[in-house]
Amino acid sequence: MYDFTFHNPTKIIFGADTEQQIGQELAAAGIKKVLLLSGQGSAKKSGLLDRVIACLTAAGITFVALEGVVSNPMLSHARQGVALAKKEAVEAILAVGGGSVLDEAKAIAVGATTEIDVWEFFTGREVTAALPVFAIMTIAATGSEMNRNAVLTNEATRQKYNIASIHVHPRVSILNPVLTHTVPPDYTAYSAVDAIAHVLEGYCTKQPGTRLQDRLVESIVKTVMETTDLILQNPNHAEARASFMWAATLALNGLTPAGIGPYSFPNHMIEHSLSALYNIPHGAGLAIVIPAWMRWYHSRNPEQFTRCSRELFGLPTPAAGINALEEWFREIKAPVRLGEVGIPARDIPIISENAHGLARQWGIAELYTPAAIGEILQLAV
Ligand code: NZQ
Ligand code: ZN
Repeated sequence: MYDFTFHNPTKIIFGADTEQQIGQELAAAGIKKVLLLSGQGSAKKSGLLDRVIACLTAAGITFVALEGVVSNPMLSHARQGVALAKKEAVEAILAVGGGSVLDEAKAIAVGATTEIDVWEFFTGREVTAALPVFAIMTIAATGSEMNRNAVLTNEATRQKYNIASIHVHPRVSILNPVLTHTVPPDYTAYSAVDAIAHVLEGYCTKQPGTRLQDRLVESIVKTVMETTDLILQNPNHAEARASFMWAATLALNGLTPAGIGPYSFPNHMIEHSLSALYNIPHGAGLAIVIPAWMRWYHSRNPEQFTRCSRELFGLPTPAAGINALEEWFREIKAPVRLGEVGIPARDIPIISENAHGLARQWGIAELYTPAAIGEILQLAV
């Protein structure tokens, strides 16, 4: 095992009706006014937003609301949020929604503390401060509720880039799995692929020999697969929704890579270009990239891929395991080829150039040249 520092300052409050605690949590942090950020309407439609507002009011917390965060959140909307947060002098950002709402909340939290344009932090400038971020999650997928990442798309440049800073860790994230019962089957499937990708990226690119972390990953993948199958049969399966939600959180909160040494996130690097250029759901893009990348990469790390096939599917070879994973993606109705989401093969050079920009940012551009990314994407045609 490698030496590591694990520092995750987010408080998680998990369970039924826990959104009722948001007022007291904000008050306990000394916060009197928040920017209440939400998405395209699901939180309003379910009545959650009204319940949250009642709870804030009861705790004596005032708010200014900003709706309309889109899935794959946009820089222009985040800039609106920054301007509003400054004008209204809010003391914290409260995100009510999915990973998109929370990621934009994190961006606004950074932008609100400075005169520097928020996009600069997504292209390399170090984050040194942010307003406190609080979250009530309505979909389990990204792990944003317990991590240091935020992803935004700059719609002018078509770059989907991220910040990573301890300053944007949510102070408190409220996870009530009952709120996720209304997540439709397609987004349930995409979320499953995303959570699986978050652990498999490290597992497949690290060197063998960290057995606890390997078993944590295998446990998370198996839990996500089992519970997804149950949820797709019965969207109100409370135990499955709850286990899925906690598994997705643990999949990207720093736990599984602690001590594994060097690893990379190439599937995300390529996927971010698909969702930046074609605005497809992140998990759908990953389901297309992962089998292709695995076929391209597995011979570079045969021991881990053999273990993956054996432990997840009881199969003897990397190729058999990759086929089984792809088959499961098909079963849950996630797309596995570019054509299934309308992306033509002739666009591969454009996608590869776009992805190479992020490869440079993430320090993996030497292996992932535009030509290499093109080879991977050809396996997804
Ligand atoms: O906008 P609303 O109306 O809320 O609808 C959303 C959206 O259409 C809907 N939804 C959310 N909760 C629901 C619900 N519908 C019914 N019932 C509910 N309870 O679901 C749709 C997807 O929501 P979104 O927030 O976009 O999904 P997700 O949580 O998967 O977030 C995706 C974004 O996170 C980024 C992705 O790239 C993408 O931009 N990621 C963030 C990461 C991070 N911060 O660590 C890591 C990930 O790798 C990922 O890149
Ligand atoms: Zn992801």
